[in-house]
Amino acid sequence: MLETRFCDLELRNPTRLCAGIMGVNAGQLIRVAREGAGAVTMKSIGPREREGHKNPTVIEWEHGILNAVGLPTPGYKNCDEEFEELKELKKLGVPLIASIYGTRAEEFIEVAGYVAEKGPDAIELDISCPNTEWHDLQFAQDAEISGKIVGGVKGVCGKIPVIAKLSPAAASPAEVGKACEEAGADALCAANTMPGMLINVDARKPILAFRKGGISGPALKPINLKITYDLYEKVQIPIIGEGGITNGTDALEYVMAGATLCGIGSAVWKGGTGIFRTVCAEMEFWMKENGYSKLEQLRGIAHEK
Ligand SMILES: Cc1cc2nc3c(=O)[nH]c(=O)nc-3n(C[C@H](O)[C@H](O)[C@H](O)COP(=O)(O)O)c2cc1C
Repeated sequence: MLETRFCDLELRNPTRLCAGIMGVNAGQLIRVAREGAGAVTMKSIGPREREGHKNPTVIEWEHGILNAVGLPTPGYKNCDEEFEELKELKKLGVPLIASIYGTRAEEFIEVAGYVAEKGPDAIELDISCPNTEWHDLQFAQDAEISGKIVGGVKGVCGKIPVIAKLSPAAASPAEVGKACEEAGADALCAANTMPGMLINVDARKPILAFRKGGISGPALKPINLKITYDLYEKVQIPIIGEGGITNGTDALEYVMAGATLCGIGSAVWKGGTGIFRTVCAEMEFWMKENGYSKLEQLRGIAHEK
């Protein structure tokens, strides 16, 4: 009932583990795959070793999570072993999405060239992280730069599908998504975290050491849901909807807005890996109750007037 085709990949269900959540080592990703995720995404891999920001980097608040982890990475040259271990995912039939970043287009292309040789099932471009020193260069705020990165990366990825991860902070994420599609993107992710901050009044200081961060979890859902909805009207390529999915109803909302896959991140962080099975069971339950047998019957249905 939940089987999903995404960029020629066959998934047992439409859920995917978002980038940067539990993907710190291969063992964690394999566990998430065993626990029911339809696909898993690695922590974003960068051009060179980077420690990330000082603690505190992640805090939970009543409407979600605020993080400024700061893209820690061993650098792509030190990821061979991880990719080797992740071959286990093939046996489980769970697609592996590699996530990469750079500080400029040339670095994206350099990292993508290496990662493509390792044979992941798709490569996602984190052009939208709000928590870096170069954050005012958030590529996904600019359609032209985003298209340039996508076009360059496509040139070194062969047949591996390339996903552009958009930012809710762009003036028009749908315009940026369209530019990425025109540059050759095979899919879009709607979307990354929204820039934000929280202050500890007793300390009279921002709570995160990096001061500002990215908002994820329930507070993000209506924002990224609208981006998914807008994109569905503008592009032909599949969309990964994510931001604040905590149950089957949230996931169905994204499907009805037009998503093919539903990313789950903060809910895994908060509640553990059982969330994938729970979300799928709740989706199936609702579908059976309402007389649907396939997700395609629901995809984009909220656009009907
Ligand atoms: C602690 C944390 C770390 C994250 N790290 C990354 C990352 O390395 N790369 C990336 O593209 N997105 C990263 N994200 C964003 C998530 O992949 C996801 O797009 C976002 O959190 C929205 O989904 P959610 O509300 O289900 O968490 C991170 C999010 C969190 C909470």
